[in-house]
Amino acid sequence: MSAALSIENLGKRFGVGRPAVDGVSFDVPAGEIVVLLGPSGCGKTTTLRCVAGLEHPTGGRISIGGRVVSEPERGLLVSPRERDIGMVFQSYAVWPHMTVRQNVAYPLKHRRKSRGGDINAKVNETLELVGLADYADRPVVSLSGGQMQRVALARSLVYRPQLLLLDEPLSNLDAKLRLRLRDELRRILKQTGMTGLYVTHDQAEAVVLGDRIGVMRDGHLLQMAPPGEIYNRPADAFVANFTGASNVLRGKVLARSGETATIDLGGVGRIEAWTPQPLSAGDQARIALRAENVRLGERAERNVFSARVLERRYQGTQTVYDLELGGQRLEALELGTAARHDPNAEIPLTLPPEMCWAYRDEGQSLD
Ligand SMILES: Nc1ncnc2c1ncn2[C@@H]1O[C@H](COP(=O)(O)OP(=O)(O)OP(=O)(O)O)[C@@H](O)[C@H]1O
Ligand SMILES: [Mg+2]
Repeated sequence: MSAALSIENLGKRFGVGRPAVDGVSFDVPAGEIVVLLGPSGCGKTTTLRCVAGLEHPTGGRISIGGRVVSEPERGLLVSPRERDIGMVFQSYAVWPHMTVRQNVAYPLKHRRKSRGGDINAKVNETLELVGLADYADRPVVSLSGGQMQRVALARSLVYRPQLLLLDEPLSNLDAKLRLRLRDELRRILKQTGMTGLYVTHDQAEAVVLGDRIGVMRDGHLLQMAPPGEIYNRPADAFVANFTGASNVLRGKVLARSGETATIDLGGVGRIEAWTPQPLSAGDQARIALRAENVRLGERAERNVFSARVLERRYQGTQTVYDLELGGQRLEALELGTAARHDPNAEIPLTLPPEMCWAYRDEGQSLD
């Protein structure tokens, strides 16, 4: 039976300096897959290791299936072995001297809870699930990287832990295999109804695998939401930038009504944008926008501007344009087989208001 995970105000500090994890709270309901996404060093692995019990948190509370497994304030810490967790890591943690079948059977033979059950049937069923039924009696070292990672996955699924933790399990695979296994992994996890916490810095992986994505930075959880919301309603400028909205326009807020802000871009006029923040008139704002959401040559009702083409890079199936809009740079991406606009041309463009996201501009770095 898979179980829910609950993390409240988790903190982990290694020695002095900034904590690796700072006030992180989120829940993973039973059967859901949550992906922690963020740049290197933001605290993803540390969070996962705290859940596994491999790292001792310095604050907060972690519960699995309603049972508190760590709460330093009360001196409470359940050992990793007693948490009923499966883990898959970046490196293929398999026993090299064993066959595929022996590897997958190993946890069943060494865990009290599954003794007496039909080990062979469970192993076969799990190998079937990960698509390795035909490889059962091969030495594990004769397999490819992707197959070995599936052995590691089978080994952590075979005893049906309450919770599966995965730390960049695909990052050692070549690009093609990574894509295939990524799609397969979601199918396998959903088929088993497993509750999963998955860590990656790869956005595409996060979107495909996660029922929800949590974006982390510097030990903090910035936003936790379904992929569509992370992508279309980023709660903050870092989330917008990290998930690919790399264009930034700067301006001054003229007015705000609900979640719509009107912002003065300087000489080129005003722009309407969606905002998750309580901006007020006079605030400096930065507007994040994806290159593929810039509509070239289109005239809509709102947010129509005139821009100059500085450069274009034709890439076969798409063209990237560098544009100048009132002294600010803007990148636009247009799908299609032909480059339509020439350098130096003045062209109309539309920036759809719901695709323009405004945040308070405090000169903060987004790296
Ligand atoms: N054992 C440790 N001792 C001291 N500092 C550590 C230790 N483990 C992690 N850290 C620090 O904690 C911070 C978070 O590290 P963590 O491994 O959780 O990052 P991450 O998000 O998994 O990054 P990556 O994508 O590179 O794997 C980093 O600043 C790291 O240097
Ligand atoms: Mg890591």
